[in-house]
Amino acid sequence: MFHTEICDLLGIEYPILQGAMQGAGGPRLVAAVCEAGGLGVLPTFGGNEATLREDIARTRAFTPRPFAVNITPIGRAFTESRARICIELHVPIVTTGRGDPGLRIVEMLKGAGIIVLPVVPSVKHAIRVEAEGADAIIASGCEAGGHVGTVATLPLVPQVVDAVKVPVIAAGGIADARGFLAAFALGARGVQLGTRLIATPESEAPRGAKERILAAAETDTVVTSLLTGKPVRTLATRALSDYERARLRGDSAERQSELREVFRAQSGGKVESEHTYAAGQVAGMIRDVRPVREIFLEMMQSAAALSARLSASASA
Ligand SMILES: Cc1cc2nc3c(=O)[nH]c(=O)nc-3n(C[C@H](O)[C@H](O)[C@H](O)COP(=O)(O)O)c2cc1C
Repeated sequence: MFHTEICDLLGIEYPILQGAMQGAGGPRLVAAVCEAGGLGVLPTFGGNEATLREDIARTRAFTPRPFAVNITPIGRAFTESRARICIELHVPIVTTGRGDPGLRIVEMLKGAGIIVLPVVPSVKHAIRVEAEGADAIIASGCEAGGHVGTVATLPLVPQVVDAVKVPVIAAGGIADARGFLAAFALGARGVQLGTRLIATPESEAPRGAKERILAAAETDTVVTSLLTGKPVRTLATRALSDYERARLRGDSAERQSELREVFRAQSGGKVESEHTYAAGQVAGMIRDVRPVREIFLEMMQSAAALSARLSASASA
C-alpha cells in the first residue's frame, strides 16, 4: 500500500529510512534496518577513514542488502575523503547531513553512479540541492534529534514538496504509524526515523541512553550549540538546561561561562556521554525497546488500518 518511488529508487520494501546516528547506529542497526525492509544509513561524523572502511565491511558481513553512508559536510577535506571512500567501495547511496555538500561533491558522487539524498532544514536549501542533482530530498524538522534547523516538520515538509520536483522524505518527530501517515498527508513519499530506532536491541547506543529515552517526557530535550558548535537537539540535563536558559535570558557573560563550565565538567566535553545524548522530541512517546522488524511491521500495518479508518470516517 505504501510502496512509493522511494522504494524503487533505493531498492527497499518499505519507504522507511533509518537516519544516520553517530553513536547509536553502527553496522548492527544498519543491517537490521535493511533486513527489515528499510534503508540503513551508516554515520561518518566523528569517525575516521579507517572506521568508515571497517563499518562498511562489517555491515556487508551482516547483510547483502544495499545500505547508505551519511556524510556530514564538516569541511572540504573530510567531505571529499568520505566521498572517495564511498566511490571506491561501491556504496550505492549517500545521504548528506546538515550543511550543503556542494555541487562538486554531488557531481563526484553522481558521476560514480551513487544516489544522493541530502538532508535539508529549509526550502531554500532544498531548491539548491535539487539544482545540484539530488535524487530525492530529506526534509528534517527541528523536533528531530541531532543537528537541527528552526522550522518544524509540519510546516517544512509541504513547503519543500511544493518547491521541488524530486520526491521528498520527511524526518523529525516520526515514531509510529500516526507520524508515518501524517508525513504522507504532507506530501512526503517516505520517512526517516532516528530516535525511535535508538530504543531497539540492535542499536549500539549505550543502555543508559536507551533508558533515558524510555523515561523522557516530550519536554526533556534541548537544542544546544555546546556539543558541536552547531545547534543539536539532545536529551536535557539540569546543567545543560540551566546554561541554555541563561543564554536565552541574556544573563551576563560571566554567568553563562560559569554554567557552561559546569556542563563541560559533567559531560567531559564529549558529544555522546551519559550526560549528553542526541534525541528528538518523540522520545516522550517511546516506551519500549523493540526489534526493528517489529517497529516497521507495526508501523506499516497500523498505518494501513488508520488510513482505512480515516477514509471511512471521511465518507460517512
Ligand atoms: C543520536 C543521534 C545521532 C545523529 N547523528 C546524525 C549524523 O551523524 N548525521 C546526520 O545526518 N544526522 C544525524 N542524526 C539525525 C538523524 O539521522 C535523523 O534525521 C533524526 O534523528 C530524525 O528525527 P527523529 O529523531 O525525530 O526521528 C542523529 C540523530 C540522533 C538521535
